[in-house]
Amino acid sequence: MQDHKNGSLLDKLNRPLRDLRISVTDKCNFRCQYCMPAEIFGPDFPFLKKNELLSFEEITRLATLFVHSFGVKKLRITGGEPLMRRDLASLIQMLSMIDGVEDIAMTTNGSLLARHANQLKKAGLSRVTISLDSLNNDIFGKMNGKGVQVEEVLSGIQAAKEAGLGVKINMVVQKGVNESEIIPMAKFFREQGYPLRFIEFMDVGNTNRWDMKSVYPKKKIIEDIHTVMPIEPIEPNYIGEVATRYRYIGSSDEIGVISSVTDAFCSTCNRARLSAEGKLFTCLFASTGHDLREPLRSDLSDNQLIDLLTSIWNGRKDQYSIDRNSYLKENIKKDKIEMSRIGG
Ligand code: GTP
Ligand code: 5AD
Ligand code: SF4
Ligand code: SF4
Repeated sequence: MQDHKNGSLLDKLNRPLRDLRISVTDKCNFRCQYCMPAEIFGPDFPFLKKNELLSFEEITRLATLFVHSFGVKKLRITGGEPLMRRDLASLIQMLSMIDGVEDIAMTTNGSLLARHANQLKKAGLSRVTISLDSLNNDIFGKMNGKGVQVEEVLSGIQAAKEAGLGVKINMVVQKGVNESEIIPMAKFFREQGYPLRFIEFMDVGNTNRWDMKSVYPKKKIIEDIHTVMPIEPIEPNYIGEVATRYRYIGSSDEIGVISSVTDAFCSTCNRARLSAEGKLFTCLFASTGHDLREPLRSDLSDNQLIDLLTSIWNGRKDQYSIDRNSYLKENIKKDKIEMSRIGG
């Protein structure tokens, strides 16, 4: 087993562990068709019960081990919708007290942010990434499955900015659904001064009816924007950044494209994902996770937990996005964890 004391833990493909994504709930107040289709995630859907969720203390204990033993510096809070978890600011506060944490971010749909932004910032949250797929209420209302209006998310964005949080915007692009919104969104968020990232529709989970024909590829997104507002590529902010960055020529305004389908980035993938029920997933497209809740609740020592985490990461060889085409070609149906369980 590889020594973890030096703070650098490598997997089978030599990729270090750098970021920890922590899902705090599998619930969401939206029903985005590409993530939690309403016909599947209906009123009788068996969401996790309270005692199945990791407690804030359990999450903090694990996060502390990731930070102190493996040199993780960046934590990202996800869901479902993380603000559906009661008293989330207390968790942020606990995580921000961990010595060595440099960045706590959250991915949210923004609808509940106006209520919580100030408190989250005070608790130690540094930035938010807010999902918004369209500026058109008809399109957006259909995509979020609940008829939620654009204005609600825009007020969340405004509240986050006023609270002093860093803000980025995520837009999932689905061919035949919202590609007409690429240019309006690019123009609007450029004017507003927020980096917008376009995300290719991905085949996460088993329920979102993904089809290669519904993917609007990175190449097209770039072409569309370049035709109207010329852009040029820029360097990543850090090794392993999922978004490829571009700048509008002659300015410092930027956009990003996340191209898991047409231009995989597995070779630099350094993210571990902790689900709300305490399973550790080493890939967004994994079928199963490694249970940490039982070990946590059966009084394992920190050193025993560190050994367990070390062996999980050392054994990791996931590279689903690179392998996707062979799965498709051979018509292999892989059972995959749902996005709402793992937080993207
Ligand atoms: P920062 O770079 O810190 O801003 O965060 P991020 O872009 O990693 O986080 P965010 O939650 O906004 O993720 C953006 C999109 O990238 C989401 O659709 C995620 O599901 C997707 N994503 C993040 N990490 C991975 C990954 O390892 N593999 C794949 N395929 N997609 C990922
Ligand atoms: N494909 C691409 N992105 C997705 N997201 C959720 N489901 C999908 C999917 N099938 C996005 C959300 C959010 C981020 C965590 O992942 O819109 O911005
Ligand atoms: Fe909720 Fe985000 Fe999934 Fe939409 S993408 S259903 S907002 S968790
Ligand atoms: Fe990482 Fe899996 Fe995404 Fe590849 S597909 S970048 S291994 S999470």
